[in-house]
Amino acid sequence: MKILVTGGCGFIGSHVVDAFVDAGHEVIIVDNLSSGTLANKNERARFYQVDVCTPELDAVIRDERPEVIHHHAAQISVPLSVRDPLTDAEVNIKGTLRLLELSRAHGVKRFVFASTGGAIYGEAGLVPTPEDYVPQPSSPYAISKLSCEHYIRFYEKQHNLGHVILRYSNVYGPRQIPHGEAGVVAIFAEALLDGKLPTLNHFPGEPEGMVRDYCFVKDIAAANLLAAKTSKPGTYNIGTGKGTTTYQLYREILQALRLRGIDLPPLFDQLERAQARAGDIRVSTLNTARAQAELGFRPAFPLRDGLAQTVAWYLARQKGQG
Ligand SMILES: NC(=O)c1ccc[n+]([C@@H]2O[C@H](COP(=O)([O-])OP(=O)(O)OC[C@H]3O[C@@H](n4cnc5c(N)ncnc54)[C@H](O)[C@@H]3O)[C@@H](O)[C@H]2O)c1
Repeated sequence: MKILVTGGCGFIGSHVVDAFVDAGHEVIIVDNLSSGTLANKNERARFYQVDVCTPELDAVIRDERPEVIHHHAAQISVPLSVRDPLTDAEVNIKGTLRLLELSRAHGVKRFVFASTGGAIYGEAGLVPTPEDYVPQPSSPYAISKLSCEHYIRFYEKQHNLGHVILRYSNVYGPRQIPHGEAGVVAIFAEALLDGKLPTLNHFPGEPEGMVRDYCFVKDIAAANLLAAKTSKPGTYNIGTGKGTTTYQLYREILQALRLRGIDLPPLFDQLERAQARAGDIRVSTLNTARAQAELGFRPAFPLRDGLAQTVAWYLARQKGQG
């Protein structure tokens, strides 16, 4: 299959590209390298350094004529979306609409969208949260992602453009940058490797921190493989369904580093603490029963295994081999 991945030089997109290339697909990457890097680029994919918000995108889709588009390019910072909702909407809403228009014009068969479970559901009254829970988006980033979902469903109804929407939980793994939607693993790992005590944000009386559903990026890539194949349109939560507090996560990262011989004295068993920030969500975990039943999605990497691979990558990068 010929598959175009936007954001394919970024954290998640590059793993999605790797999985498609390994599965024998012809892969095209579109990325403006605003947060992605050439170091993440798969050498067996064709690469266009193009911004999804610009008219140059037209020629790429027209000439390449992919069967499927996996749209991962986005403005991913929640705080930036609060400070500058216009920029967020320019990239996330208008960029997605441009791609949808070009998909319709140039015969793309299916559009797969990287949405967000954590941000869209907000502080949900039901956890793990299922797909039919009424979203409570609490940031312009979440609103823009939810708007895109509506446009995508409209294009299926109106123009017969097949779609799969994947609502990711908190994704972690090699190549993650610390300032994205869910960069806490990257923040903790980088701080510890620099010999600094990281800071844990928490609500008053909840010293363990917030609860999140951490999903390893290779499981996310596997979900994209399943989404490329399915003929059923749909919206699916992609995560593990399991909750981990920030402090538990921190302990797991500490242990993974110590197992690799990094000297982190007992002083590191406690970290700096700060108040939760405005808009922080206490608990966010996703019910993935629909993805299991309809896509056959099963996360294969327990947190400990995923963190071991992640920590190994940060260590290699520190030594200049990443
Ligand atoms: N990281 C998470 O936990 C998480 C959770 C839910 C959803 N998502 C979604 O997954 C997708 C990938 O996120 P990520 O964490 O890998 O972020 P990332 O910043 O590593 O990847 C985004 C990529 O898109 C590129 N890009 C940004 N704007 C672009 C534009 N206008 N034109 C072309 N390319 C552009 C960047 O250069 C980068 O390579 C995003 O859509 C994000 O909203 C991420």
